[in-house]
Amino acid sequence: MAVTHSGAGMLSVTLVVAATHSTLGIGRAGSLPWRLPRDMAFFRLVTSACNDESSRKPAVVMGRKTWDSLPQKFRPLPNRTNIILSRSVVSHGEGTFTFASLTSALDALSSSDSKSAVPPASKVFIIGGAEIYAEALRHLSASRVLLTIVYPPDETALSLDTYLPDFRKSEDWKLASPEDLRKYILEEVQSEEAVSLLPKVGERIKEKGYEYEFTLWERSQKYFTS
Ligand SMILES: NC(=O)c1ccc[n+]([C@@H]2O[C@H](COP(=O)([O-])OP(=O)(O)OC[C@H]3O[C@@H](n4cnc5c(N)ncnc54)[C@H](OP(=O)(O)O)[C@@H]3O)[C@@H](O)[C@H]2O)c1
Repeated sequence: MAVTHSGAGMLSVTLVVAATHSTLGIGRAGSLPWRLPRDMAFFRLVTSACNDESSRKPAVVMGRKTWDSLPQKFRPLPNRTNIILSRSVVSHGEGTFTFASLTSALDALSSSDSKSAVPPASKVFIIGGAEIYAEALRHLSASRVLLTIVYPPDETALSLDTYLPDFRKSEDWKLASPEDLRKYILEEVQSEEAVSLLPKVGERIKEKGYEYEFTLWERSQKYFTS
């Protein structure tokens, strides 16, 4: 997989996504294909946890269509710097920052320039949709994917129309063990509440007719040693 560099420096950049097991389907008609409360709680806890001593907030980066899909009353997502990527719209209102490229957003979030309007981030979460995930997977700075793997009873019945590129096929990405996922959530995200949502090892969560599991994928270290 070809990757591009950005000026994100040591900023931790993680994709957070829920996708079907067989095709990595993530969306339907501009919305999520499912409503999974425990997954949503996990998403909220992980993306809002702050472990930075300077009390910097985490940032969430999303495409304009994903922003549009969020119900008005839930946006901007609280306790997180909301970054929207758009090539055509320049502003999405109070409490948000809009950028015309992922690289410029990551540069701004990693900058310590006190004159910048964008607060420096403790860490960055890429939260979709498909166009932005695809772009982020090409970026060297994205080193982890927190993937909720969803096993629907009948995938064809979901009428999925939006997909995550299948990064699992690339040698660059490795599935971390359940213990390493737990360690990442405890030590890097520092959210004991999020850890409490992880199912027992070897078990899947069963909710609303779906089964699903939380997984962590890490980009090969070879990219970080050269
Ligand atoms: N299952 C999940 O975890 C999950 C998570 C998030 C979203 N989703 C789903 O994914 C779907 C939306 O995904 P999508 O791929 O259609 O849209 P998207 O990635 O959310 O947004 C696409 C838009 O982002 C802007 N954009 C894309 N690449 C850009 C770049 N490199 N630089 C600057 N701006 C860029 C463009 O906005 P302009 O047109 O304004 O220029 C483009 O139209 C929905 O169904 C949503 O519910 C699923």
